[in-house]
Amino acid sequence: MDQPLRLGLAGLGTVGTSVIRLLRDHEEALTDRAGRPLRLVAVSARNPNKDRGISLDGLSWHSDPVALASSPDIDCFIELIGGENGVCREATRAALDAGKSVVTANKALLAKHGIELAAAAESGGGVLAFEAAVGGGIPIVKALREALAGNRITRLFGILNGTCNYILTRMEAEGLSFEQCLADAQELGYAEADPSFDIDGLDAAHKLAILTSLAFGVELNKDAIFVEGIASITAEDIAAAEELGYRIKLLAVAQETDSGIEQRVHPTMLPKNSQLARISDVTNAVAVEGDFIGQVVLSGPGAGGDATASAVVGDIVDCARGFRAPPFGRPVASLKPYQRARMRAHPGGYYLRLSVPDRVGAFAAIARAMADGGISLDSIVQRNRPAGAAPRGNPDHLRSVTIITHDTTEQAVRDALGRIEGEGDIVGRPQMIRIEAL
Ligand SMILES: NC(=O)c1ccc[n+]([C@@H]2O[C@H](COP(=O)([O-])OP(=O)(O)OC[C@H]3O[C@@H](n4cnc5c(N)ncnc54)[C@H](OP(=O)(O)O)[C@@H]3O)[C@@H](O)[C@H]2O)c1
Repeated sequence: MDQPLRLGLAGLGTVGTSVIRLLRDHEEALTDRAGRPLRLVAVSARNPNKDRGISLDGLSWHSDPVALASSPDIDCFIELIGGENGVCREATRAALDAGKSVVTANKALLAKHGIELAAAAESGGGVLAFEAAVGGGIPIVKALREALAGNRITRLFGILNGTCNYILTRMEAEGLSFEQCLADAQELGYAEADPSFDIDGLDAAHKLAILTSLAFGVELNKDAIFVEGIASITAEDIAAAEELGYRIKLLAVAQETDSGIEQRVHPTMLPKNSQLARISDVTNAVAVEGDFIGQVVLSGPGAGGDATASAVVGDIVDCARGFRAPPFGRPVASLKPYQRARMRAHPGGYYLRLSVPDRVGAFAAIARAMADGGISLDSIVQRNRPAGAAPRGNPDHLRSVTIITHDTTEQAVRDALGRIEGEGDIVGRPQMIRIEAL
């Protein structure tokens, strides 16, 4: 039997404690699979006195994760602290510079500093593994980097944020408001006290940036992603989607276009019978399209301590076996600069919901502005707004107009909405949700 792989683990929270339990529960099988024992020797967290529900007896305690990362007593550093800068970055860098392997679940760190860290792994001779950073327990990183390496990937899309999917699923199933479902998600521990990172789409964008780099061989560029969150989705939108045969999902999409790689995260109406529309609650799913494989869809638990630990330990086993792959699927020097596609050229159908004053001609003016922009309409429906509105016939009385367009471009829709707003034909911000036949 080979020498044990000595592990140092920083971060003893939700994921860190699950990793320790998994390593202990499956010790024998893991030794067999890895061909050598996986030996946890040292840990680091902030509070040495916290009861974490697991025994830390026999492990050396480091209050400084950077010192742990470069300690000669470990071969593999497991970063489960979180954050994009500061100690997680310093510790990861220290381990890689010391030639050690690093396993991390930290998408924020990778989305921001992934290329720098991959270069440090290359020059230090270590491994940078991050299966758990995207899709929790779903093995999408290995799928893109290893199993699908024979393909030219043309598109990938997925539901990458469990919190948003939970909120949208509840809104649809129970007709509840966004605010109610968010409060429930917080109570159940699916959403943070400050949920903005999830509901504004930033968490999904970080994951998408990582997948884009792996799939298309380009440098990471999270700042080039078009991002819209789900906070503006109302029960009315959900009900309209339902009526029309769609479901609203926060979708992350990356695809090749003539003008570069398009990356976007936004609420999307998907046909109810499509595979991704049927992904509910906190489950995640990713579809990948390649020239030889066609389409592959992976789905499963996108978060949670145990599911994430499953991915972390898979990476640790790889390290123990001596498996090495370039972190982003090819050497850093051969990653292409990211060329951003123009979002405004994005073709597709659109759902629009406008608040229109109840006056003669307003409805017709909207239909005309659409026609003037060359936008052909699949349907246009006028509804009275729910209770609280002024009496009918009064311009203060608002009607809700929902429009479904045939395929058009983002630019054409935005121009038409600009004209309608400019003419004073609507009140407040229009709602615009893209429709995709995915
Ligand atoms: N939770 C999930 O479902 C999930 C899923 C996929 C990926 N991830 C990623 O996994 C990582 C960990 O997430 P988590 O949910 O386990 O976080 P968490 O529960 O908040 O745990 C974070 C841990 O890091 C420790 N820590 C914080 N600052 C530290 C410092 N300066 N020095 C040493 N230790 C420090 C904390 O110590 P104390 O306990 O002493 O405060 C805590 O044990 C993040 O990158 C996250 O994005 C999480």
